Amino acid sequence: MARSDSVTTPDSSATPTSQTPTDPPYADTPATGDPSQSALVQAARGRATPHTPVWFMRQAGRSLPEYRSLRQGTNMLETCATPDLVTEITLQPVRRHQVDAAILFSDIVVPLKAVGLDIDIVAGTGPVVAEPIATRADLDRLPELTPEHVPYITDAIRSLVAELGPTPLIGFSGAPFTLASYLIEGGPSKTHQRTKALMHGDPELWRDLCARLAQIARTFLQVQIDAGASAVQLFDSWVGALPRADYLRFVEPHSRAVLQGVGDRVPRIHFGVGTGELLGDMAAAGTEVIGVDFRVSLTDAVQRTGGRHAVQGNLDPALLFAPWPVIEERVTQLVEEGRGAPGHILNLGHGVLPDTDPTVLTRVVELVHSLG
Ligand code: CP3
Repeated sequence: MARSDSVTTPDSSATPTSQTPTDPPYADTPATGDPSQSALVQAARGRATPHTPVWFMRQAGRSLPEYRSLRQGTNMLETCATPDLVTEITLQPVRRHQVDAAILFSDIVVPLKAVGLDIDIVAGTGPVVAEPIATRADLDRLPELTPEHVPYITDAIRSLVAELGPTPLIGFSGAPFTLASYLIEGGPSKTHQRTKALMHGDPELWRDLCARLAQIARTFLQVQIDAGASAVQLFDSWVGALPRADYLRFVEPHSRAVLQGVGDRVPRIHFGVGTGELLGDMAAAGTEVIGVDFRVSLTDAVQRTGGRHAVQGNLDPALLFAPWPVIEERVTQLVEEGRGAPGHILNLGHGVLPDTDPTVLTRVVELVHSLG
């Protein structure tokens, strides 16, 4: 278990509160040096912060030239299993943009690969599964995840936590529905037709598949928290494809099992795309922060979640291609709108697009911090 590992090196996985890094902190974080006191964690807990914290989904990746040159000739999933590379790539956007959090460089399919599935990430396509799941016998190819399956995640996070000092590290996992969709479709899908056919056609198999994926997601998040992550995000990227009744019947119990199984040791963020109709249910599944995509205003999101949750979002990633005065106005409005929420973490409504100009991202961070 990750915990017993850390017994042999009692200080290495601890939060480096007493560390005096030779470099200045990466971001504008409190002098205490404790990531649990950072603006991101405080906002997630609904407490007042000196400025609105900001980070970007997919901040580590193809928008950065330093990422593209480091990744040249290397396989994505091998990179994710190499702690030195994970550490460097995770730190790149923190150094460059001074964002308020790092997000672990990994992928939602990493734990599925770790338990033995034949899965790869194809550039320009996304995850591709060699033998998609269709029958009960296929479930046997998906064993439970143990911490021993992902030692490189523990190693990468320990090294990152030491490097980051007061800047929090966000861990993450894919949620059962989004993982199931990749496994059943064999790759990315716009319609999720095989997934929906299995969900409705064989509800017992669907339930058992999602229960297994919930075990994998929960353990993957727990490994990251045990190693020192200061917050976690559950990505249910594609669940907006479902009507609410199907979400409640077929998906919510499994996402709830992940979130409640992880508990509130660190704040949880629950995010999906096109989930305007599901926001209240996703928030109630057990999370401190509800992720909001760019289709729903923060004000509506607060209202739909009963004013009981911090919100994260929700600048349209495509807006970063507009002239700066447009971006400046929208970001300023967003910070103001966020003051009406119990807590606000500024982010995009989905990931950074690969050909985004990274200097625009840096300017957004500077602007958000300047607004106090
Ligand atoms: O900075 C970060 O946000 C951390 C890194 C991160 C990656 N994947 C790296 C990555 C995170 C949080 C993810 C999660 C992920 N992966 C999700 C949920 C988030 C979301 O976007 O909704 C999903 C759905 C996946 C599956 C996946 N992996 C897709 C759709 C793709 C893109 C395929 C493509 O080429 O357009 C990937 C590959 C991937 N994951 C890349 C990165 C940086 C690109 C691969 C490369 O650089 O070679």
